[in-house]
Amino acid sequence: MSTQHFIVIGNPIAHSQSPQIHQGFAAQVGLSIRYARQLCPNDVHSFTAVVEAFFNGGGVGANVTVPFKQMAYKLCHTNLTPHAQVAGAVNTLYMQNGKLCGHNTDGQGLVNHIQNLGWELKDKNIAIIGAGGASRGIILPLLAAGVSSIHVANRTVTKADALIEDCQKQANNLPNNIAALIKQAKLSASSIEALTGSYDVIINATSIGLSGDKLPLADTLSCTKAYDMMYGRDLPFLQHFEDKGANVSDGKGMLIGQAALSFEQWTGKKVDVNTL
Ligand code: ATR
Repeated sequence: MSTQHFIVIGNPIAHSQSPQIHQGFAAQVGLSIRYARQLCPNDVHSFTAVVEAFFNGGGVGANVTVPFKQMAYKLCHTNLTPHAQVAGAVNTLYMQNGKLCGHNTDGQGLVNHIQNLGWELKDKNIAIIGAGGASRGIILPLLAAGVSSIHVANRTVTKADALIEDCQKQANNLPNNIAALIKQAKLSASSIEALTGSYDVIINATSIGLSGDKLPLADTLSCTKAYDMMYGRDLPFLQHFEDKGANVSDGKGMLIGQAALSFEQWTGKKVDVNTL
């Protein structure tokens, strides 16, 4: 059996847990792989060179992480899956018919983890805090899971408005069944302070966890479940809602979920995320 080669490209990258996760998947399905961390200077020429060298050298698949997901999206031109198109970002690269293709598994990884936790999404009202790449990537998978509404709250309200407008514009370029999900969706936006009332699930998609600052959450805001896309550090967002009686989860399972979907895209093999 020949060994298949994979990389994850990022900056920084030393902390990435992707190699262990993918090695675990490979062992599970009996494949021989090498999965390496690839540091890359933060400019488009270096990123393009790294991607070309990897695939010209026979590499099978590359994951892309901060800060290269938008660059990867542009590099794939029109060879994008609908999820990558709506996300405006690519975390999974592969070659098909001699062309570089981009997919985004982050959002579906989140949805799969949430469902794995036993949290219902169908007909539920969702609030997402943050309007950067992380929140853009989860809108379509949440809609596809049948949520009733999505409210996006952001420190900069104009960015939350723009995110929703962009999603709606994208709908025209997508297959009909996916476009319909977006066109029928109840989407709204506000500042974080103006996010009040009760939600089934609140998701923190901001990068505030990196800074140690606290979100200006209203006293009247409550939820049954709270999810933070970050992991591996103290998360005051989760503490806040746990103190109010909500079930909470960090984003470690999302990391494993997105990896499982990338692995499946590259190898055609489904893996069991619960055995890691
Ligand atoms: P990512 O691609 O990880 O989403 P990003 O595009 O830089 O990263 O977006 C970061 C998100 O975290 C944004 O929604 C940002 O709010 P702004 O759009 O107002 O900048 C949010 N964020 C970061 N630090 C924050 C803070 N201290 N308070 C509130 N929101 C914060």
